[in-house]
Amino acid sequence: MALVPPKRRRGPGRGQEAGAGGAAVSSPAPLRFPGVTIYLAERHMGRSRRAFLTGLARAKGFRVDQAYSPEVTHVVMEGSSAAEASRWLDGVLGASGSLPRPLLLNISWFTESMGQGKPVPVESRHCLGVSLPTRSQADPNSLPAYACQRHTPLTHHNLCFTEALETLAEAAGFEDSQGRFLSFRRAASVLRALSGPITSMSQLRGLPSFGDHSSRIVQELLEHGVSSEVERVKQSERYKTMKLFTQIFGVGVKTADRWYREGLRTLADLQGQTRKLNRQQEAGIRYFEDLTRPVWRHEADAIQQVVEEAVWQVLPGATVTMTGGFCRGKLQGHDVDFLITHPVEGQEAGLIPKVMSHLESQGLVLYQHTQSNHYQELKDLDHKASQNNTMDAYERCFSILWLPKSPTSFHLETGEGPREPSGDGRAVRVDLVVTPISQFAFALLGWTGSQHFQRELRRFSRTEKQLLLNSHGLYDPEKKESLPATSEEDIFTHLGLEYIAPEQRNA
Ligand code: UTP
Ligand code: MN
Repeated sequence: MALVPPKRRRGPGRGQEAGAGGAAVSSPAPLRFPGVTIYLAERHMGRSRRAFLTGLARAKGFRVDQAYSPEVTHVVMEGSSAAEASRWLDGVLGASGSLPRPLLLNISWFTESMGQGKPVPVESRHCLGVSLPTRSQADPNSLPAYACQRHTPLTHHNLCFTEALETLAEAAGFEDSQGRFLSFRRAASVLRALSGPITSMSQLRGLPSFGDHSSRIVQELLEHGVSSEVERVKQSERYKTMKLFTQIFGVGVKTADRWYREGLRTLADLQGQTRKLNRQQEAGIRYFEDLTRPVWRHEADAIQQVVEEAVWQVLPGATVTMTGGFCRGKLQGHDVDFLITHPVEGQEAGLIPKVMSHLESQGLVLYQHTQSNHYQELKDLDHKASQNNTMDAYERCFSILWLPKSPTSFHLETGEGPREPSGDGRAVRVDLVVTPISQFAFALLGWTGSQHFQRELRRFSRTEKQLLLNSHGLYDPEKKESLPATSEEDIFTHLGLEYIAPEQRNA
């Protein structure tokens, strides 16, 4: 089927920054306007145009930053509505109400400034509304029921409540108590989507997915600042041990629970019983310290370069797209997730072993476990979708790669740094997933997460639209047909949902 690369989403390379920021136009001139720092939003503008405009402005002595930071004074958007611009800014600034708010400008300000060779005074016709209320601000009680119908920015206003509820969700997950897990998680997710902090119980009235138990926790926190139940859980030997064990690469709840019941409590206990460990868990323990340190965005970018080089050696024309939390705007993650595809369907098959041996020859592979695609095992999409879990049938490699410490990789855009860059490098968990181009949009949507957003998207499809969605496709069991998509937008459209950008999927 679709031999055409995804359109509208600037090809399968979403999430990658334009190389040298368009310096190809000409090299940056010295900065001439110290009070002005421009950020060009890529959405609607597109990557290549953004790179072009960046180069143009820099050549005229403007400071243009590739990443958004509090230093940005002028945000320029093209083709965005005021509401969208304002939502974007809310998402970026999140709960940090004290951060300065930049000017939100349409492209006319930029074009005129380039024309005059200096920043023109900002007039109202240049402005995209500054503080238009988002839908949730307008009426908190109109919050839609499914997380995939809401905008959920990365940072929000109810951290103390969501942390407590997530702890209880996690603890319920440790006890294999799916119902409790979901109800705490759904409640936490609702609070993340609110445009302001909860300060009184009356604000919970009418919120979707907010049960009695979650309400009680919020009440306790409002009245006492702590929840005795959450504190009790956090202090319990069971929770602490399960948390420790499930943090090990290759250890799920089942294994952790078995070890706990056998009386094991610490990593040292496990190391004393190495016969209990499979190869993956052994690696998980060997690199435990590195793997439990957050991976920073610049480290993820460095890994992307290494992976891209290897992929291009093996299959020129293939694309490597970073997915997961980083493309939702997270500054750190527990791993780095990549989707690999090729514009010609079928070319991508069997790629991973070759890529991995290339990486191995450079001494960069600390652990790998490749799973070849098993499309055949899952006979049809109907069946696949009914599995209702996150395991998909793509060719996939779970790996631990070695990221050498290079002086250039420590240039940070965020001002935050790795806590303690140890030795001459570090281990990083990397997932490589290979997808045929015809399924790329579905894989991208699924792997972008968040896990809860995807779960809700699938529940919405099933319950409200009688369609089955997973990382391979969207299936109509009634008509017995798959609905094609070449972009994430296509999938939202099939489902009759407003498109939600990745940075608003932090449900
Ligand atoms: P991650 O577990 O990597 O989470 O899964 P994350 O959002 O990137 O956050 P970090 O890594 O903890 O910072 C990313 C997405 O990929 C999906 C998950 O459901 C999630 O939405 N996923 C993960 C799958 O579809 N299949 C898998 O086997 C694993
Ligand atoms: Mn991830």
